[in-house]
Amino acid sequence: MAETQGVDHFKGQPRLPKFAVPTKYEIFLKPDLRTCKFSGNVLITVDVVEDTRFLVLNAAELSIENGSVWFRSFSSSQKLQPLEIVAVEKDEILVLVFGDFFPHGVGVLEMNFEGILNDRMKGFYRSVYKYNGEDKNMAVTQFEPADARRCFPCWDEPAFKATFKMILEVPSDHVALSNMPVTKEEVSSDVKKLFFQESPLMSTYLVAVVVGLFEFVEAYTTDGTHVRVYTQVGKSSQGKFSLDVAVKTLELYKEYFAVAYALPKLDMIAIPDFSAGAMENYGLVTYRETALLYDECHSAAANKQRVATVVAHELAHQWFGNLVTMEWWTHLWLNEDLQHGYLAADSIFPEWKIWTQFLDDTVSGLRLDALSESHPIEVEINHASEIDEIFDAISYQKGASLIRMLQSYLGADCFQKSLASYVKKFAYSNAKTEDLWNVLEEESGEPVKALMNSWTKQKGYPVVNVTIKDGQLELEQSLFLASGSPGAGEWIVPITLCYGSYATQKKFLLRTKFDKVNLDQFLGPSNANDQERDGSIWIKLNVDQTGFYRVKYEGELEAGIRYAIENNKLSETDRFGILDDSYALCMASKQSLSSLLSLMAAYSEEPEYTVLSLLITVSCKVIYMIEDANPELSDDIKHFVIGLLQHSAERLGWDPKEGESHLDAMLRGEILSALAQLGHSITQNEGLRRFNAFFNDMDTTLLPPDIRRAAYVCVMRNVDKSNKSGYESLLKIYRESDLSQEKTRILSCLADSPDPDAVLEALNFLLSSEVRNQDAFYGLGGISKEGRDIAWKWLKDNWDYIAKTWGSGHLLTSFVSRVVSSFSSEEKAVEIEEFFASRITPAISRTLKQSLERVRVNANWVRSIRRESSLAEVVKQLAYRKP
Ligand code: BES
Ligand code: ZN
Repeated sequence: MAETQGVDHFKGQPRLPKFAVPTKYEIFLKPDLRTCKFSGNVLITVDVVEDTRFLVLNAAELSIENGSVWFRSFSSSQKLQPLEIVAVEKDEILVLVFGDFFPHGVGVLEMNFEGILNDRMKGFYRSVYKYNGEDKNMAVTQFEPADARRCFPCWDEPAFKATFKMILEVPSDHVALSNMPVTKEEVSSDVKKLFFQESPLMSTYLVAVVVGLFEFVEAYTTDGTHVRVYTQVGKSSQGKFSLDVAVKTLELYKEYFAVAYALPKLDMIAIPDFSAGAMENYGLVTYRETALLYDECHSAAANKQRVATVVAHELAHQWFGNLVTMEWWTHLWLNEDLQHGYLAADSIFPEWKIWTQFLDDTVSGLRLDALSESHPIEVEINHASEIDEIFDAISYQKGASLIRMLQSYLGADCFQKSLASYVKKFAYSNAKTEDLWNVLEEESGEPVKALMNSWTKQKGYPVVNVTIKDGQLELEQSLFLASGSPGAGEWIVPITLCYGSYATQKKFLLRTKFDKVNLDQFLGPSNANDQERDGSIWIKLNVDQTGFYRVKYEGELEAGIRYAIENNKLSETDRFGILDDSYALCMASKQSLSSLLSLMAAYSEEPEYTVLSLLITVSCKVIYMIEDANPELSDDIKHFVIGLLQHSAERLGWDPKEGESHLDAMLRGEILSALAQLGHSITQNEGLRRFNAFFNDMDTTLLPPDIRRAAYVCVMRNVDKSNKSGYESLLKIYRESDLSQEKTRILSCLADSPDPDAVLEALNFLLSSEVRNQDAFYGLGGISKEGRDIAWKWLKDNWDYIAKTWGSGHLLTSFVSRVVSSFSSEEKAVEIEEFFASRITPAISRTLKQSLERVRVNANWVRSIRRESSLAEVVKQLAYRKP
């Protein structure tokens, strides 16, 4: 009775008690790749620091061999067996109840356990690959955020850092990898036992094991770190590119963080079944194939960029995350801020203009955070099941954007110095958000904590309204919501502005709701002249878009901005920002669609990839909404957008140009895909012609990787009831390719037919055994508008299966977000709510609310478009204007 009472005390707690803390794990694992079971033993050195009769640690889906559990105290040299072992399934904990209080000090806890190599891509799991034409299983771990407990019993929280010594027993012809190098190998006929070196202090979620048949390519950094990229047998040449990026990145971060890479080796490995994009396990980074492998003949420029940025991101974690770890998941964003990945990618590939492309990330943060169903960056986590949900655009993209905002406010040098001292101070330990602010505040002398608290502790962000009154610039901040609703919130906003030229800049903190700036102080003589010459003034706030806020220009300032765009006065980052702000304001009914359209018209000769890519996104959404609001305008608006893209389409053509830039190569694919989607018949015909040559004669010269997706879109847009051959052709390529990037490229177009039946067939294919569970979501990204109703019906019909199969995490939530968010009416929102009312679970709850809010935002927008009486006239005028 007393015992049970004691156990109850530990139930439903967000965190493990700290009366006993682990310092060292010795883990033995023996996976059976045929039966997909594993057995193991663990010896955990534990320091008992408070009086207790209990040991409370995590375990899930493991069967613990009761008689095997012992605690041996070093001080008393007693060997104690627990009276009771209680597994609390819901909380994924194991409570070991002992008869007496333990002596304080160090002891060892031992236990044997067994488990299953599951097929859910978390914990200790199996992934299937081909070897000599046969299916084989590999054993892989994915522990972040909280699944180490599915592999061995442990204190599975990031702050319980310990050292790890791994021993693996595997078939002797197999490769077995873990975080550290092997120190000893014992082979006995067909099995071998590998003993790995003890790791430095690290968190459980970074422990990793991979067992399978692999080959590798390898290299060394200048200071001797041994780097390998492992692949399936036959694919190692596809690892060369990422190997090269990894070596350069390690060298770069060593300089940047002023601390060497902490381990003797770094392995990176491609796993065919993988839930996330990649995982930064200490010394053994695991990746999806698409994020690690690069094929000279079949990978596109976009694939190359993805590989480089993911590698750079995961390697940044070796410092940020692995060496210095967040104290709790509330501070996840400290780990996941994408900044540092971009830092290395930018330094290795300056021509990619990664910092301009970074604006795509800022924008996804801004979009999600404009929902009232968003959440603060620092969010309370009360149960392991809540952690998955915060790996979202708030922790990643908003987090990274805030760091960039702060960096540009403090200056890059000061920022780097502070980071280096932060890493030094918290190495092999844990940190909270506040710890970072303290270091930055000390180094910079700026009020970093107050400034940043306003951004990380409350959700949302401001829109700053600017007007000119009596020679003064008036600023007013208020919460920006995509719904256009008012709301509370105030931020300390680092304002930057330039006046008539980039030479005339000012920066200050907007600390209150309103503020005024005297403009006279700006007007140096050169600037005044410039204004006079042009006969127009312009003021751009948020210079270079480094701030996480939107700007609404009123009156003459709005006209000035338009003037600056039309007369090419602004940098590409600012052109990007103005378009996106205008788009967001329009969606929130704060600005008319007519004015957005006429702004878009000013981008018809835009040359830059990032800006054009945004223009395409904005155009597609605007078309979608206009078609819902006013279908008669469909042809005209498409005509307008085709006209906007024409200039670039002609400049780029279909064939790659000798020596062209990486960005042009990516742009070509995006422009042609967009034109194909818009029904531009010249593009569609050319796409089909090239596809046929490629498909029938396997002639890749006409269809290099960068335009392949565009051609696939042409194929799918021409699939209808009477002609399904294009769909079959794509499936054939899908089935014959063993390159994951090719497969996902096809999946992303497969549901893009105008024929709902063909869409349904494609969606059913996603659920078939021919598509790995990790890949289904690619297909959901490309559902045609004509297919959205059938997709919704399909989702309802298959929901039970989907929920069971995809369980939790982004793979599951993408089914909800991608199908649901396409609608734009209140009736649909209600229907969706009703369907999910009885099916809601913690795994989808936040995504569902956000998706429903998006539907309602769309519905609002549609209503205000309908109210815009002169819209038809404006669209016609823009569509058929003379260039
Ligand atoms: N730590 C994450 C992987 C992860 C995500 C584990 C979610 C558990 C749950 C990893 O570092 C990561 O962020 N990967 C990204 C790629 C990156 C370039 C943003 C991913 O998985 O897409
Ligand atoms: Zn990450």
